[in-house]
Amino acid sequence: MVKFTVNGISHTFNGDEDMPLLWYLRDEARLTGTKFGCGIAQCGACTVHIGGMAQRSCSVPMAAVEGENIITIEGLEHSDRLHAVQRAWLEEDVAQCGFCQSGQIMAIASFLKDFPNPSDKDIDENHTNLCRCATYVRMRAAIHKAAAYLQEEI
Ligand code: FES
Ligand code: FES
Repeated sequence: MVKFTVNGISHTFNGDEDMPLLWYLRDEARLTGTKFGCGIAQCGACTVHIGGMAQRSCSVPMAAVEGENIITIEGLEHSDRLHAVQRAWLEEDVAQCGFCQSGQIMAIASFLKDFPNPSDKDIDENHTNLCRCATYVRMRAAIHKAAAYLQEEI
């Protein structure tokens, strides 16, 4: 048995503990904002926060989430207010098809904890999520805007 929380709600899992967390989130918890892209930890579409840090849920077995607090895109906002990254993403109109975007937002929300005032080089070296629509220019603008919003919130 594996016990953990998702977006602040307690969950218990009794199945195959080798099953990837992504399968649980989408098929059992019905949190379909987290997407399946590659299944091999390469694209980032499945990014969620585990213990506050971004991880690619397609490659995290259920056994590894015992006692963990997991946040998905559905739980990123606080007190009915969108997270700074979500607000910046909307204002910069980042999304194109949108498929990769929840993973992008979760990755950047985590990245900005380590790089609160990132340079373009920091972004280039650390933001490895893929986008087939190539929204990278708009994402870069939104990342800088989100960093500024987060500084205002301190
Ligand atoms: S689906 Fe997990 S990294 Fe691509
Ligand atoms: S917005 Fe289409 S894949 Fe990123």
